[in-house]
Amino acid sequence: MEYDTINVNTPSGSYPIYLGDNLLKNLVNLLHTPNKRKAIIISDNNVSIHYGAIVRNALSDAGWSIDDILVVPAGESSKSFNIVEDLASKILSHKIDRQTMIFALGGGVVGDLSGFLASILLRGIEFVQIPTSLLAQVDSSVGGKTGINVSTGKNLIGSFYQPSSVIIDTSTLKTLPIRELKSGYAEIIKYGIMYDIDFWQWLQENGSKVLDNDTEALKYAILRSCEIKAEIVAKDEKETSNLRALLNFGHSFGHALEYLAGYNDVLKHGEAVAIGMVMAAKFSEKMKICPLGVARDIENHLNSLDISTEIPFKLKPEDIINAMKFDKKNKNDMINLVLLEDIGIAVVKNNIDAENLALFLKGII
Ligand code: NAD
Ligand code: GLY
Repeated sequence: MEYDTINVNTPSGSYPIYLGDNLLKNLVNLLHTPNKRKAIIISDNNVSIHYGAIVRNALSDAGWSIDDILVVPAGESSKSFNIVEDLASKILSHKIDRQTMIFALGGGVVGDLSGFLASILLRGIEFVQIPTSLLAQVDSSVGGKTGINVSTGKNLIGSFYQPSSVIIDTSTLKTLPIRELKSGYAEIIKYGIMYDIDFWQWLQENGSKVLDNDTEALKYAILRSCEIKAEIVAKDEKETSNLRALLNFGHSFGHALEYLAGYNDVLKHGEAVAIGMVMAAKFSEKMKICPLGVARDIENHLNSLDISTEIPFKLKPEDIINAMKFDKKNKNDMINLVLLEDIGIAVVKNNIDAENLALFLKGII
């Protein structure tokens, strides 16, 4: 079995990310736990059809004790208190102990939800991320942010809780719908835009190969994304300095749009981030901290790959600003934003003037 390993070293623990093809069948060899344990697999109804039996059989053939896979409905609405309560009571009825391991098999929704459950069950049990969407492979499975959504906003209930390993099997992307692949691509270019101009330039040349599922291009894009995320998370695990916050470039606008869309299929997370990154770059230009043309370059790159940068519904600037007021980066009721000084250089700007922002939004939406 061939794979790359990227280590994530955080103050609360270190763990490996394994990246390769066809890793699921052999996942037990990647677990580094000498004893066979009880396993709980959480997945959604799309992913479990394709990969549930492979993971289940890999574990049970190796002697792990395992019950039925816990399957949640696919989609953002599963990141909810109701689902947490339902899964927690099912998992507890399996008489788990602190040796029990949760396997999060799916996209970012399953990963965020399972990680949150792992962090609260018995005050914390181990969990392994097995991300199957591109977005989860390049972002959500790494770094230990877990959470669910509530009526006031996205990911407002959650924990920092690191997985014990992340197993990225790139062959799972073969069944991922192209819309989801594009949604994940938005998080990939985010790393280039906010942190690494060389990666941004590589993506200009290779972005279409990534979306065509070219194995080598896809693997490099995932590897570089994970390396950047691991580097940032190692330095600022719990977002206490401004470093990790930079990973949220485009997200303040994006989260507001997702909230206004009602967390449904109208706008997927990565699609909202793609629009949000262009908005943040335009606002950076408006604030005169970023050279003119950067926002256009980002927009052109996304559009050249048929990734939309238009908000797909009507709204007013006040709607966006009100939704942005719930952002976790805000302090003392002031809006804080991640903006750009140039490609590769993101900065946190505090105390954004709401009237200025409203004027800007009026001009672009
Ligand atoms: P998702 O989990 O809803 O997956 C997208 C869709 O793809 C779903 O319908 C899913 O069933 C399907 N799918 C996944 N893998 C598949 C496969 N291999 N084959 C076929 N279908 C497959 O959404 P997502 O885009 O993966 O993740 C978005 C979520 O991640 C959001 O809730 C977002 O807030 C969260 N997120 C978290 C972090 C973090 O650091 N924790 C970072 C970014 C995003
Ligand atoms: N996706 C942003 C973070 O993990 O911090």
